[in-house]
Amino acid sequence: MKTVWIVGGPGCGKGTQCERIIAKYGFYHISSGDLLREEVASGSPRGASLQEAMSQGLFVPTDIVLDLIRERMEKAKKEESTKTGFLIDGYPRELGQGLLFEKNASINVCPVDLIIFFDVSNETLEKRLLGRAAAAVTQRADDNLETIKRRIKIFNVKNGEIVNHYKDKVVRINAEGSVDDVFAEVSKALDALLK
Ligand code: AP5
Repeated sequence: MKTVWIVGGPGCGKGTQCERIIAKYGFYHISSGDLLREEVASGSPRGASLQEAMSQGLFVPTDIVLDLIRERMEKAKKEESTKTGFLIDGYPRELGQGLLFEKNASINVCPVDLIIFFDVSNETLEKRLLGRAAAAVTQRADDNLETIKRRIKIFNVKNGEIVNHYKDKVVRINAEGSVDDVFAEVSKALDALLK
C-alpha cells in the first residue's frame, strides 16, 4: 500500500484532483480540512477548540489533525477499505507535520511514497477561492478575501521547507491549466508510482 500526500496552496485544486484520483485509482482519501470541518460540525469539545483558528485561516494544533488522520487510517485498515493506499490531502502544512507523520511509529501512520505539489500563482489561488465562494450554497467561514490572503501568506512561508526536505519524493505539477490538463500530469506521476 502506498501513501501519497497532496500539497499546494489554498484553492490550488487539491480536493478537485483528489476526486479524480479516487475515481481512477481507488485510493482512500483523507482530507485534513474535511476531517476538521466534520469535527467542528459534530459539536464535540475538540471541534469547538478548532473553530476560531480555522475561521481565521490559521493552522490548528498538529496533534489534533494527526489524531484525526490516524483514527481515519486505522478505520480504513480495519475495514480493508483500500488496497491502493492512502491519499492524504492538505497534510502536511509544515515540515514538522511531515516528520511527525513518518517518524512516530506508535501512531500507526506510515512513510510517504510520493508528494504531489500543485503549483499555482497567488493570483490564481485567490481567483479560484473567490469563484468558489461566489458559487457556494453554503459559505465556508474561511473563504473571504481577508482570510484567503492570510491563508496564502502562511502557505508561502511554510510550504517551501516541505518541498526542499522531501525533494526526492516531490512531483511539482504546474496546476494553472484546466482540471483535465492537471489530471493528465497527476496520472503520469501515479502511474509511475504504481507500475
Ligand atoms: P483545507 O480544507 O485543506 O483548505 P485549503 O488548503 O485552504 O484548500 P481548499 O480546500 O480551500 O482548496 P483546494 O486546494 O482543495 O481547492 P479546490 O479543489 O476546492 O483546510 C482548511 C483549514 O483547515 C486550514 O486553513 C487550517 O485552518 C485547517 N487545516 C487543514 N489542514 C491542516 C493541517 N494539516 N494543519 C493545521 N491546520 C490544518 O478548488 C478550489 C476552486 O477552484 C473550486 O471552485 C474548483 O472548482 C476550482 N478549480 C480547481 N481546479 C481548477 C482548475 N484546474 N482550473 C480552474 N478552476 C479550478
